[in-house]
Amino acid sequence: MGDHGVMLIGVPPESRPGETRVAATPATVAQLRTLDYDIVVATGAGAASSFPDDAYADAGARIGTAAEAWRADVVLHVNAPTDDELAGLRDGATLISLLAPARSPELVEALAGRPLTALAMDAVPRISRAQSLDVLSSMANIAGYRAVIEAAHTFGRLFTGQVTAAGKVPPAKVLVVGAGVAGLAAIGTASSLGAVVRATDVRPEVAEQIRSLGGEYIGVPPAEEQSRGTGYATEMSEDFNRRMAEIYAEQARDVDIVITTALIPGRPAPRLITEEMVASMRPGSVIVDMAAGQGGNVAGSAADRVVVSPNGVSIIGYTDLAGRLPAQASQLFGTNIVNLMKLLTPGRDGAVVLDLDDVVQRAMTVVRDGETLWPPPPVQVSAVPAATAPSPSPPPREPERPASPARRFGVVGLAAAALFFLAAFSPSQLIQHFFVFALAIVVGFYVIGNVHHALHTPLMSVTNAISGIIVVGALLQIGHGSVVVTVLASVAILVASINIFGGFAVTRRMLGMFTRG
Ligand code: NAI
Repeated sequence: MGDHGVMLIGVPPESRPGETRVAATPATVAQLRTLDYDIVVATGAGAASSFPDDAYADAGARIGTAAEAWRADVVLHVNAPTDDELAGLRDGATLISLLAPARSPELVEALAGRPLTALAMDAVPRISRAQSLDVLSSMANIAGYRAVIEAAHTFGRLFTGQVTAAGKVPPAKVLVVGAGVAGLAAIGTASSLGAVVRATDVRPEVAEQIRSLGGEYIGVPPAEEQSRGTGYATEMSEDFNRRMAEIYAEQARDVDIVITTALIPGRPAPRLITEEMVASMRPGSVIVDMAAGQGGNVAGSAADRVVVSPNGVSIIGYTDLAGRLPAQASQLFGTNIVNLMKLLTPGRDGAVVLDLDDVVQRAMTVVRDGETLWPPPPVQVSAVPAATAPSPSPPPREPERPASPARRFGVVGLAAAALFFLAAFSPSQLIQHFFVFALAIVVGFYVIGNVHHALHTPLMSVTNAISGIIVVGALLQIGHGSVVVTVLASVAILVASINIFGGFAVTRRMLGMFTRG
């Protein structure tokens, strides 16, 4: 325990060769302090990320030895512990780090051999609510950026096209395979460097995101895709894979850079770029196989190495791409941990409370007090955003379930009857107003439904103007005697005001995003 009965968080150094990251930065230490924890950071723990001991001390941490950090109540680490490091944990400690529990049964067993609690940062479910804890996404985002920088460094040419007095330079052509988190980061980076970017993915729904980052989506044409839906599963996927292979062969002959990120969790990386495709690329071209650590998307790639093919194509297989930008990788990793600690510290009182009824905490808990809780029950991923939802190849489609005809007729019949009674027993003026109202709903539905997302802000100002008119109209009506009119006018003022003030609040938040610090 720390000085005042609150828990002590330890940040030991990383022992994995080549690791540059650290699980807490001075900025995240300051945030952990606001949760009332005491913190001990091992001497030099942040050195490889350019965070000196002094900066941690200024943020409110005590600088101690590695052994002290390992003996804390809660230990924050990037990599899974070695046997020696594990032995340095105290009984009852909570370890938070990458653990790859699915691939490391011996580690899970070793952890469960002691009264410890272990939370795997790489087991965060990909649901919207858990996004702020998702280190795999944070790291993939940085790694996608770095993949382009590595490619640009090895590629002996400009990315951007130029017209100079000495002649024209064409832009580099980049193909990104798989547009998940890493792929989208690579697309954005390559296109901001001026390259012509194309991207593929088995999920056609990412096409819009690829375009919004300046890339072009290449896939099996939709017509053929639909016909796939009528075939048998294996045939479908064989046909799809054959068509995609043709696309890759065609692209390999044309592009200068290929960045591959294709992966379906729990399966070996699909082999998409063959030896012949590599052989058909121009000398000096570069491939970055981001999945090299999982078996590779590219024939001939090797984890953590650069292999040069006989025709002079460099195949980069680095698996530490995020760690090559250590300061920010540590900052994002550390922030993901802070967000987890907020979840684990409901009282903000420096005490960890693990709630296994919470699906996020349950999914991450590999061992609790020596009891193995891995694997966790499957998490309902209905809330996964389309951008990050990985899906098998080809993606499964939800079968459309139309309402039964009898039910549909029933609803329409009921509505018609209600309308008939309304028309029969109400004054003609009300009917007129009612029809204007109904038509306004139909027109409004189609107008708003067809407005592009980018135009929602101007649309909001229009609705604000309409709300202003409603408020003025309602104010004029409010004193006209009838209770019904007064009540309706008051409701109209309330609802319209919510829209107006809500608009101000949203605008304020949006402007806040652009202010520094
Ligand atoms: P993700 O799951 O967000 O994205 C993978 C994408 O590949 C998905 O959009 C999926 O639909 C697509 N895909 C799957 N099979 C495909 C196929 N046959 N053809 C085309 N697209 C296909 O994963 P994320 O986080 O973007 O990571 C991507 C890869 O990068 C993973 O292999 C990950 O391990 C690796 N990675 C490598 C790092 C490094 O330093 N080398 C660092 C971080 C991640």
